[in-house]
Amino acid sequence: MLIAHLTDSHVLAGGRKLADRFDTGANFDRLIASLAAQPVQPDLVVVSGDLGEDATAEEYAHVGEGLRRLGLPVLAVPGNHDKRAPMRAALPEMTGQTAQGHLCLARSDLPLAVIGLDTLVEGAPHGEICPDRLAWLDQALADCAGRDVLLFLHHPPITTGLQDMDGMGLLTGRDALAERVAAHGRVRAILCGHMHRAIIGSCGGADVLVAPSASHQIAFDLRAGSPYSFSDEPPQYMMHRIAPGGARVSHVVSV
Ligand SMILES: [Fe+2]
Repeated sequence: MLIAHLTDSHVLAGGRKLADRFDTGANFDRLIASLAAQPVQPDLVVVSGDLGEDATAEEYAHVGEGLRRLGLPVLAVPGNHDKRAPMRAALPEMTGQTAQGHLCLARSDLPLAVIGLDTLVEGAPHGEICPDRLAWLDQALADCAGRDVLLFLHHPPITTGLQDMDGMGLLTGRDALAERVAAHGRVRAILCGHMHRAIIGSCGGADVLVAPSASHQIAFDLRAGSPYSFSDEPPQYMMHRIAPGGARVSHVVSV
């Protein structure tokens, strides 16, 4: 199974530039065109949050139009820049929703079971897995016991060393997630965003793959106390190929 992994498009509507510098809407359109031109098309597209910069209906309409143009199944979870109500309204077929209103999703009709976990704390940059979402995750993992699982969420459950960004990382529920992943035993990859860089780590024995931004990247800087800054690296996405039995290779593709 081939999975395209897009994240952090931060689309701004009307051609506005993010930080007076990045035309995120145009970057997103270029990325969609580049992906559509790939001679081998993915079976699934997952989008791990921060679809729009300001979570407006206009931004989600732009994102939805681009993603639908691919003609592929798309699954999405929110990031810290998203808001659940407008995202769900604009992308109903791409999102799930729990009884508590979190935009979590679980799909069992694909070669791998796919679980998308909402880590959003609306209005805050950091992420959490609250007791309600942890209970939902427990059930979702129980429902796919014995199957290969692909898990995706916005905030990576790892400390990356990019300290400013780590300060707004997954601050609650990380250990609990690692326990669940280890106990399930067949989580083949944990796909994330938020960091605007390609980063590889692990959680509960599964690989964590942080995809770079579909628009703009954050400079690599491991100094303590250093505020994040943007780099000039191009828009990027990832392609994950997972064979039956779970063997996986992951590619970073620049636009
Ligand atoms: Fe984010």
